[in-house]
Amino acid sequence: MNKDLLKMEDLSKDEILDILNLGDQLKYELKHGIKHHHLEGKTLGMIFEKSSTRTRVSFEAGMYQLGGYPLFLSSSDLQIGRGEPIQDTSRVLSRYLNGIMIRTFAQDEVNSLAESSSIPIINGLTDDEHPCQVLADLMTIREKKNTFDGLKVTYIGDGNNMAQSLIVGCLTVGMNISLAIPQNYMVKDYYIKKGQELSKNNNLNFIIVNNPEDAIKDADVVITDVWASMGKENEVNERLADFSAYQVNSKIMSLAKDDAIVLHCLPAHREEEITEEILEKHADTIFEEAENRLHVQKAILVKLVK
Ligand code: CP
Ligand code: NVA
Repeated sequence: MNKDLLKMEDLSKDEILDILNLGDQLKYELKHGIKHHHLEGKTLGMIFEKSSTRTRVSFEAGMYQLGGYPLFLSSSDLQIGRGEPIQDTSRVLSRYLNGIMIRTFAQDEVNSLAESSSIPIINGLTDDEHPCQVLADLMTIREKKNTFDGLKVTYIGDGNNMAQSLIVGCLTVGMNISLAIPQNYMVKDYYIKKGQELSKNNNLNFIIVNNPEDAIKDADVVITDVWASMGKENEVNERLADFSAYQVNSKIMSLAKDDAIVLHCLPAHREEEITEEILEKHADTIFEEAENRLHVQKAILVKLVK
């Protein structure tokens, strides 16, 4: 396993399966009161340059449950907020901590942190990727469908961090993926090339289209995400108009398989990317997905920080 988890492509299929298996085990142990203090005496720094509910609380609770200690570090309180270079911050923090989880804007910032630190760095969301979320999504899909082989995942919405990590994650574990994304909000070329390469090597289908109806036919898993990610708040009105045909609602869901599940990383904007009706119909799965952040991230921490 690499020192860090910066992008989905840092993990091979076997490494993903190892993390998911350990996540399942930790979930079972937690529910049965079996202590698992794998990280006794270890400290995790959590740097946040964007808001968070799930990522912050699940990493923080997870570290406690593993017998370790989490430190919440808001970038506005750190000297980073006053211009201290990330390379200096990371060299200092490497001497105090056993790992860092960071949520920020530019992927390059996370990459620089990883290059200049001697401790594991975990990407807790950048503009490019959200690997911890996609690992929780994979854990949830396997729980609900018992397999990845041959499943079809459809993502409808913005070509954002979730879309990009899903392309790599789904194709790596053996699922087909189709995405419906408006032309002006496409994923980066890098992820189109990566998707083409992975689908070819693994004999899977990978398509990106503009029309949701062309993507969702016979899907086993339907995924969406907010139309305006953190950092895009000033584009909200324009995006509401541009994405109006990309809503996950009962009409579009009627084209997916009858037993299709719906995932949403949350927070959700009801009646925008997903209707209240569909969100509530699939709430058991969506909130299980949110819970699985805790279990899968504990597995990541055990693998990287131990
Ligand atoms: N899904 C997710 O990452 O949620 P938060 O922004 O609340 O951490
Ligand atoms: N794409 C969203 C995910 C939030 C968890 C964002 O970046 O804001």
